[in-house]
Amino acid sequence: MMFPDYRPRRFRRTENLRRMIRETTLTVDRLVYPLFVSAGEGLRNPVASMPGVFQLSVDELLKEVDSAAALGIPAVLLFGLPETKDEIGSQASAAHGPVQTATRRIKEHHPELVVITDVCLCEYTSHGHCGILRGREVDNDATLEALSAVALSHARAGADVVAPSDMMDGRVGAIRGVLDDNGMENVGILAYSAKYCSAFYGPFREAADSAPQFGDRRTYQMDPANSDEALRETAMDIEEGADMVMVKPALPYLDIIRRVKEEFDWPVAAYNVSGEYAMVKAAASMGWLNEEPVMMEMLLSIRRAGADLIITYFAKDAARLLREA
Ligand code: PBG
Repeated sequence: MMFPDYRPRRFRRTENLRRMIRETTLTVDRLVYPLFVSAGEGLRNPVASMPGVFQLSVDELLKEVDSAAALGIPAVLLFGLPETKDEIGSQASAAHGPVQTATRRIKEHHPELVVITDVCLCEYTSHGHCGILRGREVDNDATLEALSAVALSHARAGADVVAPSDMMDGRVGAIRGVLDDNGMENVGILAYSAKYCSAFYGPFREAADSAPQFGDRRTYQMDPANSDEALRETAMDIEEGADMVMVKPALPYLDIIRRVKEEFDWPVAAYNVSGEYAMVKAAASMGWLNEEPVMMEMLLSIRRAGADLIITYFAKDAARLLREA
C-alpha cells in the first residue's frame, strides 16, 4: 500500500471510476420531512430563523405534504401548535388537535405516506417543559401517563410511528404498553434515545413556540459531554420496545451515531436539527457558503456516520437535487 505501487488518485480520475468505488449513498428513501402544524385555516407563517420553514394550518400542510410525496419522500414528522396551553399540556392528547387532525387528513390523501408524530408536552405546556411539573422539577413518573395518552391519541388518528422526544426515563415501555393494551400493536416507536441538551434547538423553539419559561432542559436531556451514557440510553429504549432509535442533534454528534450503529444491530435515525439548518441558511444568504453542496455533504456525512434515516428540514431540497442527479 505504498507509493508508487498504490496510487489512490487512479480511481479518482473520472466520474465513473469515482462512482464505482463510492462507499456511501444518499437516496430519498432515507429522508424524513419535519412539519409544524397549527390550528386554524389558511395559515402559512414563516419561521424567521428557518427560511423555507412554516407553521402551517392543516389545509396548507396538505399542500406541503403533496409536494413532499411527489418528490418521493417516504415520511413526514409532525409537530403540533395547539390553540391553548396549560400547566399539564392537556391539548397534546386532544382527539381533534392539530397533529391528530393532520394525521387523519394525510392518511385520507396519501395512505402510503409514513406519518410519524412527535410525542412531547413542551409545545403544549404553559411553562414549556417537556413534562408535568412538581414544584419547579419535571416529575418523571407523573409524565409517563400523559405521554402514553398523547401517543395513543396519535395512533388512533392513524399515525404509523410515534416518536417520543421528551427524554423521561421509562417512556418507551410505558407507551408500548398502552399502545398494545389498546390494539395498536402495529404502531411503531421511534425513540429519541440519545437526545442531547443542545443549543442547536434554538430556531425550533421559535417554530414550535416551545422554549422553557424558566430554567432549561438539563435535568432530562443528555449532557453533551457524554457518549457511554448514549449507549445506556439506547440499550434501555431497545429493551423497552423501540423499533428505531435516534441520535439528536446530528452534525455535532456524528461520533455518537457511529457508536450507536456499531453497538446495536438496530435501525438508527439522526435528527439534522433546526440550528444545523439555520447555520447553513444564514451563511448561504451572506454568500459565505454554497448552500446546495454544503447541504448534500452534511446529509451524506450523517449517512456515512451510520444513520439509516435522516430527519431534515432540507428533505425537499435534497430530494429535488437527487432527482436531477
Ligand atoms: C421537543 C423537541 C425539540 C426538538 C424536537 N422535539 C426541542 C427541544 O427539545 O427543546 C428540536 C428539533 C430541532 O431543533 O429541529 N422536545
